[in-house]
Amino acid sequence: MATLEEHLTDAGCDEKLKKLILLLSQQAKPIKNAFVDKQNYAGTKNMHGDDQIELDKWADELLIDVLRKSEMVKTIASEEQSDIIEVFTQDKGFGITLDPLDGSSLIAVNLTVGTIIGIYGDGNILQKGKNMACAMYILYGPLTTLVYTIKKGVHEFVMKDDGTFELLRENLIMPEGKLYSPGGLKKDHTEKHTKFLESLESSGHKLRYSGSFVADFHQILRYGGIFSYPALKDKESGKLRLLFEAKPIGFIAREAGGEISTGEKDILEITPKSIDQRVPLYVGSKSKIQKLEEYMRGYR
Ligand code: AHG
Ligand code: MN
Ligand code: MN
Repeated sequence: MATLEEHLTDAGCDEKLKKLILLLSQQAKPIKNAFVDKQNYAGTKNMHGDDQIELDKWADELLIDVLRKSEMVKTIASEEQSDIIEVFTQDKGFGITLDPLDGSSLIAVNLTVGTIIGIYGDGNILQKGKNMACAMYILYGPLTTLVYTIKKGVHEFVMKDDGTFELLRENLIMPEGKLYSPGGLKKDHTEKHTKFLESLESSGHKLRYSGSFVADFHQILRYGGIFSYPALKDKESGKLRLLFEAKPIGFIAREAGGEISTGEKDILEITPKSIDQRVPLYVGSKSKIQKLEEYMRGYR
């Protein structure tokens, strides 16, 4: 089975991008090992108002530190940082977005959580998601796995004991599927969203929701269906973050034949105005997202 490095080489990945992806993949093992003794709340909040866990902060610092030292990166934005980090580089340098740990409330109950990363070739992270050079995530579950795309298919790797990754599945395609994964409290859902979920239920969709977006998305990627974290009655932009969560996951979804939408429009066409921007989010099989958009347009 091909290693991640061999796979990137075979795919014709640009040398610098390959080096960067491998560097990021090498952080999976130390992060996974840190789960044992960094489970407590840190007693601090990030700019989104989330309570930070020690591991959120530790993984954030680790990733930022290796990226700073890499001399390949110009710009870093992280869910755990209030400002964009500018790094001096000789040449143009990449732009990176980080959700160091997504689903961190699940760390304490030993459910799957992940690291979500977006990579922009020219250092500009405030551009449309469709312009990304690479999106990837690492899942810390029964296996530690890595999913990446450089727009040459979506591929899944598994971490071995030495921290390197080996190919598990190539060219993932999201099937139509019948799962639905509904985020947000029911009482806060809008009427049209509630009705849409009811239509999924009555057409035989099974509920699967863990509270870790990246893990819930991975299940949709493999089995098909639709994940939603919609606009809420008192929070029109929902909860999930455009830069750190929506864009990289959307980039992977689209490359696997799926789609991502606000319910009205394509998330990968949004130019972010700020790093903390949130977005109502639906991601899943292409035909489901098409039906959703039609449903939302027609709803009165
Ligand atoms: P994070 O752990 O990075 O702050 O993200 C949590 C997000 C996302 O993973 C998940 O879908 C959602 O918040 C869960 O929120 P609810 O508890 O409202 O379901
Ligand atoms: Mn997150
Ligand atoms: Mn997070």
